Amino acid sequence: MPRIICVAGARPNYMKVKPVMDALERHGADVVLVHTGQHYDTAMNDVFFRDLGIRPPDRHLGAGSGSHAEQTGRVMAAFEPLLAELVPDAVVVVGDINSTLACALVTAKAGPLLAHVEAGLRSRDWSMPEEVNRVATDRVSDYLLAPSADAAANLRAEGYREDQVHVVGNVMIDTLLANLERARRSDVLDRYGLTRGGYGLATLHRPANVDDPDALRGLLRALGRIGGRCPLVLPVHPRAEQRLHAVGVPAGVRLVPPAGYLDFIALQDAARVVLTDSGGVQEETTALGVPCVTLRNNTERPVTVEEGTNVLAGTDPDRITATVHRVLDDPPAPRCPALWDGRAGERIARVLLDGGTARTRPRPTDLVRGAA
Ligand code: UD1
Ligand code: UDP
Repeated sequence: MPRIICVAGARPNYMKVKPVMDALERHGADVVLVHTGQHYDTAMNDVFFRDLGIRPPDRHLGAGSGSHAEQTGRVMAAFEPLLAELVPDAVVVVGDINSTLACALVTAKAGPLLAHVEAGLRSRDWSMPEEVNRVATDRVSDYLLAPSADAAANLRAEGYREDQVHVVGNVMIDTLLANLERARRSDVLDRYGLTRGGYGLATLHRPANVDDPDALRGLLRALGRIGGRCPLVLPVHPRAEQRLHAVGVPAGVRLVPPAGYLDFIALQDAARVVLTDSGGVQEETTALGVPCVTLRNNTERPVTVEEGTNVLAGTDPDRITATVHRVLDDPPAPRCPALWDGRAGERIARVLLDGGTARTRPRPTDLVRGAA
């Protein structure tokens, strides 16, 4: 029975790791869930374990917040002895956060096979910390598990071996589809006095959008204008909380606490439009067929624009306002990329447990064996 460590660290990881863990365990793997502790507030962490029915982590690294180097370094220092203790056959990392890169780097030098779920996404914007994390994680991974054909094409263009690249579909959509009916039973609309199709949902947490007061002011100006036509609800990410209050929020935009998973899916599902700089929300809106306007100049998920309901609006307030009005007048038709069908976790388990991918690099143990 292979032992496989699955790593989760922050809000967008939990819904990605759950279907992978479930499928691996269905096929008999000994799964160890390691939580790095990057996110720790109840509203950013515990609520997801409860909503998604994820068992408590088997190990917790307690990394917490800090600068990029501090946070990445703390995860690495705590993960290294754990690998030595547990001696897994493989480690699965998901997404593009600092915890993903930290555990990938440690695994690559320690010996187990490394699998990256959500491989091949590229914004080509090197000012995003996530782009550094994605590219570096892919580079040291053995298994590159791509959510869509365009992500696999990026990997092939970068010269990865064909046997490393597997288009498995989107694990986030596995979780969405598995929980949609439960989410629709949430009472969040009543609690906030909202009606289906009668409001827009907004999220903001990218450093480029929320850390710079001028950028944030411009975005809020646009949200205020849109809120005049379609009232907006904005669940506040802790990174943005103080800055939103400092800059001042216009009428028509209502701040609420970060939403739990089921509530947030319910809020997306019933929204007339979603305005976001989140990665995962671009995908979930496409799967739900809800119009999404992305408040960024680029996206690592172009498939949601080309085969979904996403429109890139940039960050200029006039362009955002015009784009949202256009989308409200003429919403994009629902459509969904191939393999976003609820079975990505199962495909990943088959790839990992059937073997197949050659080791990308000689490992320390191989070198020792080779010398003997
Ligand atoms: C991180 C990820 C980002 C992801 C986002 C999802 C990196 C580089 N960034 O960004 O890719 O989109 O998570 O939400 O890994 N904080 C709390 N409570 C918490 C967690 C964070 O108050 O439970 C506050 C702290 O002040 C912290 C700040 O939020 O310094 C930023 O947290 P951090 O995890 O470093 O980055 P995020 O902006 O959350
Ligand atoms: N999400 C949530 N509550 C919120 C905002 C987002 O449950 O208030 C969920 C959302 O449905 C998606 C995930 O969190 O499943 C996306 O995480 P986030 O936007 O924090 O990170 P990103 O995807 O940008 O890395």
